[in-house]
Amino acid sequence: MRSYSASMIIVALLCSTTVQAVPSQRQLKLFHANCAQCHVGESRFIPTLGKAEDWSERNHRGEDAMLQSVIQGRGGMPPAGYCSACTEDDLRALIRLLSGLTGE
Ligand code: HEC
Repeated sequence: MRSYSASMIIVALLCSTTVQAVPSQRQLKLFHANCAQCHVGESRFIPTLGKAEDWSERNHRGEDAMLQSVIQGRGGMPPAGYCSACTEDDLRALIRLLSGLTGE
């Protein structure tokens, strides 16, 4: 028997591709329910999950600046990115997930 469950594969991928703190299950759910509808897929106007060139200039401004953008809303992004259940810690974890920043 050599079958692996999908969730094991996801955990393995998350552990192998990143040194940052992995978002919790709850934070991943919040991401899928809110941020993913805009930040996953191709859009010229929205920085995309996992696309480093979309994030390099924003990462330069830093996590705190991006946190302010998300809390207040920016361009086409509504305040808190629609995530009324997100705490500041949740938003930081999701920003790191999107941007590839490590939070150091
Ligand atoms: C309705 C679509 C939409 C949703 C939902 C959304 N975003 Fe965004 N987001 C955008 C757009 C559009 C931009 C680009 C804004 C700009 O720079 O003009 C953006 C930009 C950002 C940025 C970069 C901000 C900066 O200062 O450059 C971050 C970080 C971000 N989003 C995180 C999130 C997170 C985390 C969530 C979920 C909690 C989320 N977004 C939900 C549309 C969305």
